[in-house]
Amino acid sequence: MRINKFIASYTSYSRRKAEDIILSGRVKINDKIITSLSFDVDEDNDTLKIDDKLINIDKKLIYIMLNKPEGYITTVKDQFDRKSVVDLVSDIKERIYPVGRLDYETSGLLILTNDGDLTYKLTHPKHEVGKTYMAIVKGIPTEDSLNKFREGLLIEDYKTAPAKIKVVKTVLDKNYSICKVKIYEGKNRQVRKMFKAINHPVMRLKRVAVGDIVLKDLELGEYRHLTKEEINYLKSI
Ligand code: URA
Repeated sequence: MRINKFIASYTSYSRRKAEDIILSGRVKINDKIITSLSFDVDEDNDTLKIDDKLINIDKKLIYIMLNKPEGYITTVKDQFDRKSVVDLVSDIKERIYPVGRLDYETSGLLILTNDGDLTYKLTHPKHEVGKTYMAIVKGIPTEDSLNKFREGLLIEDYKTAPAKIKVVKTVLDKNYSICKVKIYEGKNRQVRKMFKAINHPVMRLKRVAVGDIVLKDLELGEYRHLTKEEINYLKSI
């Protein structure tokens, strides 16, 4: 197995991060430093060490989905000492990491795993797995604005890829709408920026699906292990 893939399969490093580690001389195969990215690891016979620590290839891979509440960060720590999603899964012994990010104020489906290879695949721009959100936005978007959203629009200096959008409910007297949105990329705060660009700022945002993996009726702050079918589906993307 190619050395970067091997590291991503058995550690929480992504393939790209694995390449950095290899190039900086931190990886040893059978106690010899390897800096070639094209090195193939013999999984049955080679030992691999990072910073002189043996990588255990019997690692138990964990895949869970969490219904992230608002008010949690998806990184492990931040400078403001805010609560992290990691605290919500603290009874899982393995170190698991979120696949991609959700904003502090966004709730909904977050996948966490220690499978670095899967994380790499799912977050790589070329795979473009669709992510579905429910958004409560100010005002009632016109068909014209919705079409801009569908065609792709400019956020800062970036043109977004075509997205799907449907108004599910309008509340005229309180002047807000509920929209279902599907995007195929993951720029920082993308959904919020897209709605801002059509002058309908997001009031609340919740992710309800990643590809075919659907949040359904998981309570806020609760998590569950993904089923075999869900894991196989994610690996097949
Ligand atoms: N888009 C956003 O604006 N925020 C998120 O958390 C996810 C997608």
